Amino acid sequence: EKDGYESFMEKEINEQPHAVADTLLGRSDANGKLTLDELRIDPEELAKITKIIVLACGTSAYAGQVAKYAIEHWCRIPVEVELSHEFRYRDPIVDPSTLIVSISQSGETMDTLMAVRYAKEQGAKTLSICNTNGSTIPRESDAVLYTHAGPEIAVASTKAFLAQITATYLLGLYLAQIRGNLFSGEIKDILADLGDIPAKIQDVLDRSEQIKELARSMSDAESVLFLGRHVGFPVAMEGALKLKELAYIHAEGFAAGELKHGPIALIDEGKPVFVVVPSPRGRHSMHSKVVSNIQEVRARGAKTLVIAEENDEAVKQFAEWVFYVPETKTLLMPLLATVPLQIFACELARQKGYDVDQPRNLAKSVTVE
Ligand code: BG6
Repeated sequence: EKDGYESFMEKEINEQPHAVADTLLGRSDANGKLTLDELRIDPEELAKITKIIVLACGTSAYAGQVAKYAIEHWCRIPVEVELSHEFRYRDPIVDPSTLIVSISQSGETMDTLMAVRYAKEQGAKTLSICNTNGSTIPRESDAVLYTHAGPEIAVASTKAFLAQITATYLLGLYLAQIRGNLFSGEIKDILADLGDIPAKIQDVLDRSEQIKELARSMSDAESVLFLGRHVGFPVAMEGALKLKELAYIHAEGFAAGELKHGPIALIDEGKPVFVVVPSPRGRHSMHSKVVSNIQEVRARGAKTLVIAEENDEAVKQFAEWVFYVPETKTLLMPLLATVPLQIFACELARQKGYDVDQPRNLAKSVTVE
């Protein structure tokens, strides 16, 4: 059942082109019109919402953070992202014009379920993004948008994460469509780029040996830092989480802009730092700021490991190692840039002889608060 892979984790990393493609399948027509009738919420009601709060834990919460950038940009609705267990205990402001979007692979995470129940009691509408048919959170929500990643067996999430990001993008585009925030041509264009993502993930997977080689050379790393900006920030957080979960190595993700406000003190000779670089074709100032961050940590002795968009020549001279991902829209980059970080963590853990499918102390679905 591992399809010839040594672990479910490797199998699931390699299934990601399908996870994204299957999540997109059948949800828009040839004219780029989204057809999310399955949502079961009256589009007129949805058009009236004034705020979105995304609730999730772990990797699913990072999918929520990615979603915030896209949904606010496309729909001009304020989006808050909060860990489910924090939300309920701080007297949050929730009312009938708030849409709660919960994200959960299992649909059984108790922290998220309790947060959704609480929000419902406050009168909010609840929408579940979930990978498990008929599980508790979607059953208790007003609406559901399933991710079609297929069963995820490895405890640490990989393919469900990419499917979750894909589903939040579909939701964002759907909201933009019913609220008239984007022209239909713009939506069609973004959907076409999303449609190209599975083949681009495959391209990354086809070059995984380059990442595995790096991982094998780093098995005695004691601490690894990850920097990213904009949507690259949650990607950095997820890269760090994967390394903690699988390889039991201290890892932290930071917003690249925060570097000079503290984390730069951690940099010393040989410290490995992954930097997720935004596209140079996007906002120029953002790209150049992140390239400066690479220079800053490099000047202090860091081993700079860069994930950049193909043809980004500017990063080369400051990087010890570069992995290029195919070109795509800035907002879609997490669907590509996360993959090398998953492969890195998985290979490093394998090299150390750890069980990548069942890391110590972790459970696939945490059904206690
Ligand atoms: C953790 C899992 O316990 O729960 C993570 O080990 C997962 O991989 C997190 O991201 C949230 O789970 P779910 O099912 O709500 O997405």
